[in-house]
Amino acid sequence: MKVLMVCLGNICRSPMAQGVLEKYIVQHQLNWLVDSAGTNGYHDGEHPDSRAIQAAKKMNIDISQQISRQIQTSDLDQFDLILAMDTNNLNYLKSMCRNAHQLSKIQLLMEFASGSNKLTVPDPYYDNSFDHALGLIHDACTGLIRHYEKTN
Ligand code: 4NP
Repeated sequence: MKVLMVCLGNICRSPMAQGVLEKYIVQHQLNWLVDSAGTNGYHDGEHPDSRAIQAAKKMNIDISQQISRQIQTSDLDQFDLILAMDTNNLNYLKSMCRNAHQLSKIQLLMEFASGSNKLTVPDPYYDNSFDHALGLIHDACTGLIRHYEKTN
């Protein structure tokens, strides 16, 4: 299964989500692939925000080598599951879709979370809430793995 994590800038939330899911994929020995992208291209070519790198590092996850990129229309065909961090990004992704199959791949990451009734990973870029965002991402990725563990 190919999973694409999507946020606005692809320097905070979706790189952390990619890093967390990569760790789980290894732990569960799954034949999955994960990537991330942003709905805007403002940070194209940049490494993740240093605060995201530090927050992930505390969990023994190295996201420092990731490079920000903007989502492309071809991603809607290449990936099986496209997970948005919030409703703005979800709506943007939906607006990119050209058919029902593409549309069916798009969901909020937090729909897989168990410990929270919130459906959004709040943007930590302005308020520094990186550890909080990472906690939500961990919860959702645990649910995601549980839901699709039998899937190649
Ligand atoms: P992200 O956070 O979408 O989680 O990567 C942001 C990164 C950059 C900006 C906003 C949010 N920005 O406005 O540059």
